Amino acid sequence: MPIEGKRIILREHRKEDSPNRTKLRNNLETQGVAQSLPLDYTTEMHEKAHDKRELSTLTRSEGLFVIEEKETKKFVGSISYSELNPRFSAVNGISLLKEFWGRGYGYEAHELLLEFLFHEVGLRVSYWATWSQNIGSIKLAEKSGYSIVIRSRDAVFKGGKLYDFLILELLREEYYEKHPELKDELPGL
Ligand SMILES: CC(C)(COP(=O)(O)OP(=O)(O)OC[C@H]1O[C@@H](n2cnc3c(N)ncnc32)[C@H](O)[C@@H]1OP(=O)(O)O)[C@@H](O)C(=O)NCCC(=O)NCCS
Repeated sequence: MPIEGKRIILREHRKEDSPNRTKLRNNLETQGVAQSLPLDYTTEMHEKAHDKRELSTLTRSEGLFVIEEKETKKFVGSISYSELNPRFSAVNGISLLKEFWGRGYGYEAHELLLEFLFHEVGLRVSYWATWSQNIGSIKLAEKSGYSIVIRSRDAVFKGGKLYDFLILELLREEYYEKHPELKDELPGL
């Protein structure tokens, strides 16, 4: 069942999304924190990865969603959480096709994911990984209430230069403080 926002939905990945996933992956600008080289990913690889998913109720440690524009049903990008420690923490990631940057879709999608993670999954803390030159990524996370908690200096080499690797963090209390329309019913630790 999709998670519905005002202008976008988060829905399940489908095999036919593979060409768009390949497009995101084969561009260092849209790859986000992965920065995985060389850029030789294929649609077949993504189709294979899709087919290899296993039915599991107990061991899921990640969730992957397509961001779809409601009006046009176009593929906007991909958003995920991974490294899930049940009811405790997860690391979020997002990547939009470049033509959709700067319209508020990244923020809207990420807010939908955060509501799902804090309000449905019961996380205590959400993490965001990026590097110091990725201003859009830092701004988006800070707009949702994250702050930088780890700065690993000169840890990222990119385009011939060194940048700091950053971990940002959003605590459950901070999320609910920003969202008075939601009531946190989970007892404290
Ligand atoms: C990071 C990314 C998801 C942002 O998505 P987006 O839809 O363009 O961002 P939004 O339009 O929702 O903007 C959210 C906030 O960040 C700011 N912002 C976004 N990109 C920015 C940029 N390049 N420079 C300065 N501010 C930026 C916006 O101004 C907005 O803040 P405001 O409302 O206070 O003005 C998108 O650029 C992307 O897919 N980048 C490649 C992958 C990536 O870096 N992923 C992040 C994890 S490392």
